[in-house]
Amino acid sequence: VLQKARISELKDHLDGEVTLQGWVRHHRKSGKIQFIVLRDGSGFCQCVLVKSEVDEQIWERARQLTTESSLRLIGTVQQNPRNQNYELLVKDLEIVHISEAFPITPKEHGIEFLMDRRHLWFRSKRQWAILRIRHTLVKAIRDFFDERGFTLIDSPILTPTAAEGTSTLFGVDYFDEQAYLSQSGQLYLEPAVAAFGKVYCFGPTFRAEKSKTRRHLTEFWMVEPEIAFAHLEDVMQLGESFLKHLVQRVLENNQFELKELERDTTKLEAALQPFVRMTYNEAVEKLKKLGSDIQWGEDFGGDDETMLTNEFDQPIIVHRFPKEFKAFYMEPDPEDDRLVLGMDILAPEGYGEVVGGGERASSIDFLNEQIAKHELDPEPYQWYLDVRRYGSFPHSGFGLGLERAVAWICKLPHVRETIPYPRMLYRLKP
Ligand code: 4AD
Ligand code: MG
Repeated sequence: VLQKARISELKDHLDGEVTLQGWVRHHRKSGKIQFIVLRDGSGFCQCVLVKSEVDEQIWERARQLTTESSLRLIGTVQQNPRNQNYELLVKDLEIVHISEAFPITPKEHGIEFLMDRRHLWFRSKRQWAILRIRHTLVKAIRDFFDERGFTLIDSPILTPTAAEGTSTLFGVDYFDEQAYLSQSGQLYLEPAVAAFGKVYCFGPTFRAEKSKTRRHLTEFWMVEPEIAFAHLEDVMQLGESFLKHLVQRVLENNQFELKELERDTTKLEAALQPFVRMTYNEAVEKLKKLGSDIQWGEDFGGDDETMLTNEFDQPIIVHRFPKEFKAFYMEPDPEDDRLVLGMDILAPEGYGEVVGGGERASSIDFLNEQIAKHELDPEPYQWYLDVRRYGSFPHSGFGLGLERAVAWICKLPHVRETIPYPRMLYRLKP
């Protein structure tokens, strides 16, 4: 019987007859043979037409095919003895649509040209591979928290307050009020953790990043776990097992895609070893030795993170930062009142921060002071302070930026390739 198959399933149909539906990636004619590389979203397959074995009509029909034409092919599944790939020996062919000249060709295109055609660009093998790895990561993220007893709590996107500083807020007219697009779901998870014990949210977040860097999008996806009665040490450990789980999943599921991206997987395997840990103080000392002009009390710049992470094969957990440049909600370090119990995880190979988090302040007096220091209007934060009014408790969490994780795992030069439709300064289309 004739079965509709996807390219990824061809191994189950060896020697059988199937119908494939998809688009022409390449078409090559060589005398009495035509080769069509078909893609159907699940993979790529070489389809072979032998002139002596098909009707004249079918042969002629195939000759009209252009790149990205859509079609249906019927044939027998074979395994190529040379490379073990599954191929289709074509018996019949139905053209669905002859494509106009496809603008993205194998020649070099500039990045703006490709970004303007993002909706077509992700048909290319490399972009396809990246977005498939992103998909694996999304599933791995959900599985990790679901399997550990976390409850998903969706946080709102329209919010009245800042979570991560007022300089990157996107304002929205909300009837007669001022609203902002959410920078982080954290403030909404902290009350929820008192109801569910372990929670997470996973969704788009927004920051009006006014500089062009290879690490910043204005719309990015963040997963944020939050745990009751957890301290800094607990979330450092959780962050480490979490990142290892993500790398492991991609190694298990995406060898084909990693190969397409020419990713050196030994570098990823190194991330399964124990992570490096250092305090902010130690990191600053190390950076000075490496030639950075960072001063104690300053946040790391992108270059500092690159310098630091190039020193080790494993991710680095940096903890206990100066209060000054961290968010208002962080718990002070009981051993040094200049510091807060925050932690960042920096990905190796120059990638830098992928995770940010730490222990949350549990004293209402301290938080009130911090809100004043950060010149925030206390009124819209009153509901958030209720967490500290009704059975306050230590709690901790973190956020992982999905696109930063994809960029590192795929070893991409820029986060713009990690999301289907990137949003950045000067980039709102398509
Ligand atoms: O370090 P951030 O700002 O931490 C928070 O938002 C906390 N409220 C999270 C928490 O504790 N629940 O952001 C967390 C992560 C960063 O480490 C980075 O991976 C990513 O979000 N991120 C961005 N990714 C892409 N583009 C941007 N503009 C990003 N800003 C942050
Ligand atoms: Mg951060």
